[in-house]
Amino acid sequence: MKFSKSKVKDCKIIELPIIHNRAGNITAINEVNDIPFKIKRVYYLYDVPGGEERGGHAHKKLYQLVVAASGSFDIVLDDGKMKKSINLNRPYFGLSIVPGIWREIVNFSSGSICLVLASEFYSIKDYIRDYQLFRNLKTK
Ligand code: TYD
Repeated sequence: MKFSKSKVKDCKIIELPIIHNRAGNITAINEVNDIPFKIKRVYYLYDVPGGEERGGHAHKKLYQLVVAASGSFDIVLDDGKMKKSINLNRPYFGLSIVPGIWREIVNFSSGSICLVLASEFYSIKDYIRDYQLFRNLKTK
């Protein structure tokens, strides 16, 4: 998806499968079947102090699926024209985020875990951390 063209509405909640068991549940995420990209990297945010915010950037090429593996938080998505806040609070919902979307992650509950599946390895060059630059690139 082209960086300048992507929209908040291209970011979707994906309902993940649940394997129920009286002793607890399992959610397995299979690339291609459950999510629209190949997974190259997995990382997770945890021990986020109360009141802290994460994110505050956009990616040029990266696709991500974000899951509240534990607890809850809000993801504020922004395409330069529209802004939307999405509350993630169940381990069987994933938010798919396309390239070219500014995101902030806020309101982490205590003990929450933000699990991220990503389409590319970490690259500092894929980040846009200047909001004004982001806005300028989105109007191109
Ligand atoms: P960053 O993506 O800015 O975190 P957030 O958006 O959650 O606030 O990453 C924070 C730091 O961690 C930054 O110095 C880069 C490093 N990092 C890696 O080395 N590898 C990774 O896969 C990620 C996501 C971050």
